[in-house]
Amino acid sequence: MNSQELRAVTWTAAAEDGVPSVSLIDQTVLPHTLERLDVTTVDGLVDAIVRLVVRGAPAIGAAGGYGVALAMAQAAREGWDRARLDAEVDRIRAARPTAVNLMVCVDRVRPLVDKGMAAVLAEADAIVQEDLAANHAMGAHGADWLLDRVAPGSDRPLRILTHCNTGALATAGWGTALGVIRELHARGRLETVYADETRPLLQGARLTAWELAQEGIPHYVQADGAAAGTILRGEVDAAIVGADRVAANGDTANKVGTVAVALACAHAGIPFIVAAPTTTVDLATASGDDIHIELRSEDEVLEWAGVRTAPAASRGHNPAFDVTPGSLVTALVTERGVLEVAAGELPGVSGTADPRP
Ligand code: MRU
Repeated sequence: MNSQELRAVTWTAAAEDGVPSVSLIDQTVLPHTLERLDVTTVDGLVDAIVRLVVRGAPAIGAAGGYGVALAMAQAAREGWDRARLDAEVDRIRAARPTAVNLMVCVDRVRPLVDKGMAAVLAEADAIVQEDLAANHAMGAHGADWLLDRVAPGSDRPLRILTHCNTGALATAGWGTALGVIRELHARGRLETVYADETRPLLQGARLTAWELAQEGIPHYVQADGAAAGTILRGEVDAAIVGADRVAANGDTANKVGTVAVALACAHAGIPFIVAAPTTTVDLATASGDDIHIELRSEDEVLEWAGVRTAPAASRGHNPAFDVTPGSLVTALVTERGVLEVAAGELPGVSGTADPRP
């Protein structure tokens, strides 16, 4: 399958047994197996979000939107009252704490519960369609900006480093940072991609590399620890990453390891770009200090494929995300255009327009 056509999150209306489901590409078994997991209960959806069956900020936002519909269907089957339904929707909303998209999408769909299932599903569908359109817009804006800033007056193809997975799997389709990379490739202006493997769960090595391989886009997978050296040796023109939450001052939470990439880019004097839809910009969060960083199971760093690799006495420290100071973010690409964050153009800092639609 062409990964541009992948849809990580879909709604399946009542199947033969009459029970609707949120259908998810199971990202825990890629790249070796491409299969879907259909969840029919709130417990199943929360578990899928926590285990990263579905992951990536916009994709878990989409899952949260459909999750409201899933909870309504379960409420009807099991006779929940409104308080129970609200409590179950709250569980979906809180399944992961860092990506603001999950909360934004649940909060957008939940008020429609009183209007019925059709209204709820229409809003959840709209979230998906808007994200898809935003990603294509970001791809064009990001590619224009990069070609203008990095290779003005030249037609040479670019070498781009990315961290984690920001592609079709992480979104409603196409991708954010990976959408910019896809756009460069489509324009014949991409030489190669350095995909950080993204420890400890290997979203780069398993998912980004899989998406790139599906489309024949040249790429290397490298250890996260190789990124700074690759950048400082001059082998990269720019780094592009996604975001789980962008605070009002431009501080950006993204997959752990991102800040090291940003520091290396600053040292090397190359652009460090964040590509994220406005649904990821959280003007209610003043700075990165206020972003809740998810701390995941110690086992993810103490074990490999279920086999203990660290000494039995060792403890694991496993923050899933880190915060890159806005001063290190050269530019934020949204569907509405490119904001030069390090230059002080982020809304809320310089007083320019609110990036939300
Ligand atoms: O833990 P994950 O895999 O959900 O983390 C994902 C990331 O950090 C992505 O870079 C981010 O959500 C942006 S996805 C377009």
